[in-house]
Amino acid sequence: MRLCKTVEEVRSFVTSVRFEGKTVGLVPTMGYLHPGHLSLVHEAKRRCDVVVVSIFVNPTQFGAGEDYQTYPRDLQRDAGLVADAGVDAIFAPEAAEMYPPGFSTSVDVAGVSEPLCGASRPGHFRGVATVITKLFNIVRPDMAFFGQKDFQQVLLIKRLVEDLNMDIQIVDVPIVREADGLAMSSRNVYLSEEDRKAALVLSRSLSLARQLVAEGERDVARLKERVVREIQSEPRAEIDYVEILSVPHLKQLDLLADNALLALAVRFGKTRLIDNTVLEA
Ligand code: PAJ
Repeated sequence: MRLCKTVEEVRSFVTSVRFEGKTVGLVPTMGYLHPGHLSLVHEAKRRCDVVVVSIFVNPTQFGAGEDYQTYPRDLQRDAGLVADAGVDAIFAPEAAEMYPPGFSTSVDVAGVSEPLCGASRPGHFRGVATVITKLFNIVRPDMAFFGQKDFQQVLLIKRLVEDLNMDIQIVDVPIVREADGLAMSSRNVYLSEEDRKAALVLSRSLSLARQLVAEGERDVARLKERVVREIQSEPRAEIDYVEILSVPHLKQLDLLADNALLALAVRFGKTRLIDNTVLEA
């Protein structure tokens, strides 16, 4: 496996495998990998001849006062995990390689970037769209792989690729959960033992909503209220948002008709966790 630290190194690797007629899959990550990330790698391996994983804690998608400095990092451990998974190359640049002095361009995807995490983390999706555009231009993959854990992010990337005519197929992969239901996240390592237990209220409240919909509930306000009440029954949980929005445009709904996204962001102490499910009416 190649470990590329510079744009030039990863470009020359990709050029050489393309010359052999191989297809290239890219899995963008911020590292501290877990089985959720590895499921993207497995899907990429299944569909592409060569797989590149990028590991870059992207400063431009973190707001002031967020966890950029303390975000967990362990490149050596990550390299071992992806080597075992059969990855061909890692692209792990320093921040200065991606954002040299004078860097002044950003990519804004209107609409889908505005609600949910766009509202509670201003500028976040500009940072995501900008770094993903750069990674796509650097690696020029045939396909790129994203997790439904960040459902809004997937919608944003699909919009970006369509709007800017990027010739890249976006593949989304289901959420990988711990045995007890907690969605895997690099940020779960921040949770105290009590908060780790309390965080189960997320997957529990998603199941409750799915059950209510299966029983025939279609009223969005009532569904939201039940989910909010369920989360509030856990005293350690502090709600950032609970929303049910249309897919793929993320517009407000009164009644469930087609598929809708139920998305949650909840704080446990200093740790903000997100989770979601698609409600099928
Ligand atoms: P990161 O949080 O490291 O996640 C990298 C990819 O792994 C994302 O596509 C995310 O949705 C996916 N992922 C994370 N946890 C998952 C889980 N439990 N199940 C399935 N997939 C999961 O998302 C980012 O990094 C960044 O915003 C990035 C796209 C790399 C841009 O900087």
